[in-house]
Amino acid sequence: MELTQVLSDVLKEAFTAAGYDAAYAQVKVSDRPDLCEFQCNGAMAAAKAYHKAPFMIADDVLKHLPENDCIGRIEVVKPGFINIDSDPAYISRSLSSLYGSGETPIPQAAKPRRIVIDYGGPNVAKPLHVGHLRSAVIGESIKRILRAVGHEVLGDVHLGDWGLQMGLIMTEVRERQPDLIYFDESYEGDYPEEAPFTISELEEIYPAASARSKEDEAYKARAMEATHKLQMGVRGYRALWERIMAISIADLKKNYQKLDVTFDLWKAESDAQPYIPDMVTYLKDGGYAHYDQGALVIDVAEETDTAVIPPCMVLKSDGASLYNTTDLATIVERMKLFDPDEIIYVVDKRQSLYFTQIFRAARKAHLVKEETGLRHIGFGTMNGRDGKPFKTRAGGVMRLETLLQNIYDEMEKKISENRNVKEDDARTTAAIVGLSAVKYGDLSNQASKDYIFDVDKFTSFEGNTGPYILYTIVRIKSILAKYGAEGGTLLPPASREEKDLMLALTDFGSVIADAAENMAPHRICAYIFRTANEFNRFYHETHILTEEDKARQASWITLLDMTKRVLETCIDLLGFKAPEHM
Ligand code: ARG
Repeated sequence: MELTQVLSDVLKEAFTAAGYDAAYAQVKVSDRPDLCEFQCNGAMAAAKAYHKAPFMIADDVLKHLPENDCIGRIEVVKPGFINIDSDPAYISRSLSSLYGSGETPIPQAAKPRRIVIDYGGPNVAKPLHVGHLRSAVIGESIKRILRAVGHEVLGDVHLGDWGLQMGLIMTEVRERQPDLIYFDESYEGDYPEEAPFTISELEEIYPAASARSKEDEAYKARAMEATHKLQMGVRGYRALWERIMAISIADLKKNYQKLDVTFDLWKAESDAQPYIPDMVTYLKDGGYAHYDQGALVIDVAEETDTAVIPPCMVLKSDGASLYNTTDLATIVERMKLFDPDEIIYVVDKRQSLYFTQIFRAARKAHLVKEETGLRHIGFGTMNGRDGKPFKTRAGGVMRLETLLQNIYDEMEKKISENRNVKEDDARTTAAIVGLSAVKYGDLSNQASKDYIFDVDKFTSFEGNTGPYILYTIVRIKSILAKYGAEGGTLLPPASREEKDLMLALTDFGSVIADAAENMAPHRICAYIFRTANEFNRFYHETHILTEEDKARQASWITLLDMTKRVLETCIDLLGFKAPEHM
């Protein structure tokens, strides 16, 4: 149990015994750490209800304090605050019982749920750009956190592989290679296994096609027709689409692997396609959808809306399906295949109106159960140092690879400056530390906020950064390696710094529970920054390896080992790891 709760329970008894309502007994972490660790301000609030001076109430409460082993010092200060310090031996005992066995247990959710988490969301044949980074990084961390507290989690990449983008690519391919067998509709044989393009050609094809379609009406019409043929299942188009998918997915897997992001499901928009016809019939027959100017729509406005929520379009007036259609059908598919308790979407917050429409439509038409959770975790924009959306120097959309390369180069420079390392060594370490810089730089901000991607700041070894956290872990590892032996029994803290570090470690479980509850990785970042700071303060005050009291020294080693495990568990939940040295 959290320490504030343990202390509150003791004070509740005291408040009750003294004749006051136990509701006033709440203990919190002190606002004035220079004076005390914890405080209870209940006497101030009780004063009004009981028409008594707060000081008298607090005094009364202290007189009725029950026997306990968790309070080290308690006193009343004017006008009626109750200041509390924890008992040092209690703290070391609770840490020993929590982590003494060598495990770093995470409190498990009372009711484990089955959760599908939709993140990543890359589009086939389009290069990953910086906008996809946030979804991948945040989604991966939330997946790991939810899983760690005991939920059954399925991560789905939900590839964008349907719609006009595919028609555009096919049209451009045809433009360049008109004689390809895929476009011969009278052909009945097998199609070649080998794709008629490489991934780099493919990545260049989409932007070219997209640009041309904006100027050339006839070209755009051809792309729409190609899309239609694909969706109708014309053989050659299907086969070409499969080739595009195969090389694109292989490339995406490689890129996500570099980010240490993995998916349980590599499903795509096209997988929902078979569910569309029945869903449309159901929506029409059930009276959930109706035609409005030729388009099939579901009204989703509610009386309490303060802003206009337009209807959710299910089919366009030409009968074509769209992004909405696929998302609704994907909900049907997910319910059928996985029957989840909740579906979470980690998608740019600019799509929040869209998800409001989708969720309302799904509920209204009972595509999900009453109790099924649907949640959009909308993230903000990643901006450049000028505070504007991240762009290349030339003003284009920056590719993810380029952005990451900038970080890795800078990291390698800093690591090589830092000490004399062999070049390969510096490069491998730079990749590990660089990933922490990117992920921590992102995750330390509340997801919904925009943030500035600042290479200098993110790669710094000082301050609230990934490299600082890793540096702290590596420092601990190196002390442990120098000491070489097992630690010993954890003794009560001998200094303020040591006690603060221990107090931070006791909070681990409640921080993870809170991060899971709120699906908020930034809370874990704030916690490891605090813990790393407490550790470094302790480290500067303490000469661990030259200590002559061997029992004390062994206790410190145990404390270091616990700190290391807590920090490493946390960074694993954030999605990165520490190198052996740096
Ligand atoms: N592919 C989409 C994009 O790039 C993101 C997909 C998000 N997931 C979803 N179920 N709509 O914007």
